[in-house]
Amino acid sequence: MKALLPKSIKGKVSLIIGSIAVASGLITGFYTYNEEVKKAKEVSKEKVRLTLAFSKSIRGYVRETLRPKIYELMNEYKCIKEDFILEAQSSSFLTSNIFRSVSREFQGLTLRQVAFKPLNPKNEPTPVEQKIIEYFRKTKAPEYTEIVNINNYRYLVSAFPVKVEASCLMCHGKVENMPKAVKAIYKPKEDPNWKVDEIQGGIFVYEPYEATLLRAQLSGLIKGGTIFFVNILVLGIILWILNRYVFSPINVLKEHADKISKGEIDDRIPVKGEDEIGELAKAFERMRISIKKVMDLLK
Ligand code: HEC
Repeated sequence: MKALLPKSIKGKVSLIIGSIAVASGLITGFYTYNEEVKKAKEVSKEKVRLTLAFSKSIRGYVRETLRPKIYELMNEYKCIKEDFILEAQSSSFLTSNIFRSVSREFQGLTLRQVAFKPLNPKNEPTPVEQKIIEYFRKTKAPEYTEIVNINNYRYLVSAFPVKVEASCLMCHGKVENMPKAVKAIYKPKEDPNWKVDEIQGGIFVYEPYEATLLRAQLSGLIKGGTIFFVNILVLGIILWILNRYVFSPINVLKEHADKISKGEIDDRIPVKGEDEIGELAKAFERMRISIKKVMDLLK
């Protein structure tokens, strides 16, 4: 251990404060990173939960309020030719369109409503979504939240299952029962044939977690780095103070002591300041004068 320590005081001080700088920088960095990740996870989860709650509410509102109201108006005013108005009566269509603009506001926050045998081919579940739907089928879990890796990018995914009700079959059952407007828009080639009470799909919310992690890493790096550089600055200042008030006066004394040891006894030793080193210089000077007196006597 002793062999590892530098010989000079300057070296020892540098080593100790340098180590403190590195250690405190690293500890602060890791601590900040961990805290930020924890915080970011919570925020992401809240965002996702809010999104799911909104999507559920919009779907409920369309089903219970908007759709029946529009049907009522259609029956009342026979002049309306359509038997189904997609923009106002499809809960999926409405929700996905609303959330398209939400995800523009909240970078990358995405909502997907998918199902096996979908009306809109865009709503075909991806392999990851298929697995989660299978999980819902097997476990009957009401919700799923996990960080998943898709194409080397991590997302916080939250989902809930979509269960088929009898009322869904009008549009998701047989093609012959579908409103003309739905047939005209989606041109289904075969019956979706959803079965009542079956878990047919899921509502998925994706929060780009990789970006969140990156922000946490950056924050940890900045905070840890700042602490490190502040410590290095403190080290610099301490070394400067030591150099000015301790090391260089000691060097001057050492040079004079060397001279005295070689018999060069006439140079005055400069005394600067009243501190410990000043006192030492005074004592040296007194010693030089005494030696000089003795040497003069001997001549
Ligand atoms: C009056 C017609 C109608 C009814 C009733 C209906 N839907 Fe849909 N649904 C649609 C349309 C139209 C789409 C396609 C929207 C789009 O383009 O994204 C759709 C899409 C979906 C999707 C996305 C997958 C796909 O098929 O494209 C899910 C999930 C869904 N509906 C669930 C339900 C559930 C659950 C019910 C019953 C509680 C239901 N729907 C009742 C018209 C309907």
